[in-house]
Amino acid sequence: MQTNIQAETARRRTFAIISHPDAGKTTLTEKLLLFGGAIQTAGAVKSNKIKKSATSDFMEIEKQRGISVATSVMTFDYNNLKINILDTPGHKDFAEDTYRTLTAVDSVILVIDCVKGVEEQTKRLMEVCRMRDTPVIVFINKLDREGQNPFDLLDELEEKLNIRVRPMTWPVNMGQNFKGVYSLIEKKLYFFKVNKTKVEDDVLPIELADDLLDQKVGERDAAQLREDVELIEGVYDDFDRQAYLDGKLAPVFFGSAVNNFGVKELLEGFCQISPEPIARPTDKREVLPGEKNFSGFVFKIHANLDPRHRDRIAFLRICSGVFERNKFYHHTRLDKNVRFASPFSFMADSKSVVEEGFPGDVVGLYDTGTFKIGDTLTEGEDLQFQGIPSFSPEIFKELVNLDPMKSKQLEKGIQQLTDEGVAQLFSLELGNRKIVGTVGELQFEVIQYRLENEYGAKCRWVPLNYTKACWITAEDPKKLNEFIRLKGNQIAYDKDQNPVFLAESDWMLRMNQQNNPDVTFHLTSEFK
Ligand code: G4P
Repeated sequence: MQTNIQAETARRRTFAIISHPDAGKTTLTEKLLLFGGAIQTAGAVKSNKIKKSATSDFMEIEKQRGISVATSVMTFDYNNLKINILDTPGHKDFAEDTYRTLTAVDSVILVIDCVKGVEEQTKRLMEVCRMRDTPVIVFINKLDREGQNPFDLLDELEEKLNIRVRPMTWPVNMGQNFKGVYSLIEKKLYFFKVNKTKVEDDVLPIELADDLLDQKVGERDAAQLREDVELIEGVYDDFDRQAYLDGKLAPVFFGSAVNNFGVKELLEGFCQISPEPIARPTDKREVLPGEKNFSGFVFKIHANLDPRHRDRIAFLRICSGVFERNKFYHHTRLDKNVRFASPFSFMADSKSVVEEGFPGDVVGLYDTGTFKIGDTLTEGEDLQFQGIPSFSPEIFKELVNLDPMKSKQLEKGIQQLTDEGVAQLFSLELGNRKIVGTVGELQFEVIQYRLENEYGAKCRWVPLNYTKACWITAEDPKKLNEFIRLKGNQIAYDKDQNPVFLAESDWMLRMNQQNNPDVTFHLTSEFK
């Protein structure tokens, strides 16, 4: 069994595709599935994307999210590898979902729109990747459009994302004159043709010095390509895989997802360089994927809003050993044993019961309220996986109970919803007031709706003036207590009773940091 675990683990590649909305994440995901043979026709993933027209109607969004459970994890075999793509919601209000999904992957592909370059959400996502030094491959998309100069794009990536980059392919022109990309590694020219699905016929192994290049792309473009490549070889070091695996260097590919161009090369490149399942930290020790005993953690909980199917699905990432159906496992937070009769794997458009899963795999577990985000299952060992931090919310509102007879229901409802990760709950010491923090307005509507429909509790929201919640610590407990006493109504407690400081603005936060050098302010709940 041991060698089996190792062989199966070595075969797994578990990653997420991330981007600022509209850069082409959905299109690229779909094209990877097409090339991987997991789906036969385009449209399967696209239909799950939250439609722009629905972005102000949360029930519509929830309906669409409901469908997308099936495609939350997309698995296919390619080049003898088992590839698991973890889908992330592109919608900005669900950014926390995306951040959490990033805790369950071993690497990511970051999609950039060549016209828009690095955008707001790109930066945020990259910050999350950097927290864990997650290896990142960059795909610069939409080369069929008149984009920015590729050298400028690379500079922008380095500057704004704070990571070294290394081009792996290089475009020959862009927009209407886009002719293809030259692979700097394979020394091959890939010709661009709109919407082709077969790439092989359009590849030419060619050395840059060869006259054939001039014949194929024209003298001017050939000269430009030679000049560009000379510059690249002068400026960038050779591709250093270890630096990529350490999260210090991002290889960059160019292409056009909607035209199927550059996608296969990206997939091949990904298969060659991306990491197999990696070791993961726990509160006690590091867990290696090749270990005999099973362990895993829950990184996402999906609730079904359909009143006829009020089930929740917990997404479990397997970190070590073999997960088996119907076997008892230890739920370390609750210190109790649990087993699952019908765990399932996710396929492109269906769910199927799995008998076993290996490190890197994600299984779906039907849950009746036993799980919180971050919960750990083991074969008995008492450990808790780390690295699933909460991030500072951006919008804060006080939860006001409208029906005193239903305060218990409200209490239970808000606890469960925040366990699912819909939002974060903070309480103010004074008067036991409850503050809910989210990254998007939609979550407030979702909570209000669900409290009423699932728990029979009515509430209203009072907007608060805060924009950040910082977890606070100090080496000297006296200093911390002093600060807490001093700031009184700006101090709240998270679900684990850790104190947080609520700041009205970045400026106020900086002032407080300057004036209280003994107190450390953290923007995420997990810190060393
Ligand atoms: P997202 O998941 O990152 O939000 O982006 P998505 O894939 O939905 O792509 C956003 C838009 O960009 C889509 O157009 C899509 O067709 C287009 N797109 C994706 N890749 C390319 C590309 O390589 N070149 C060009 N020119 N466009 C690309 P849309 O108008 O929003 O939707 P649709 O009706 O065309 O599907």
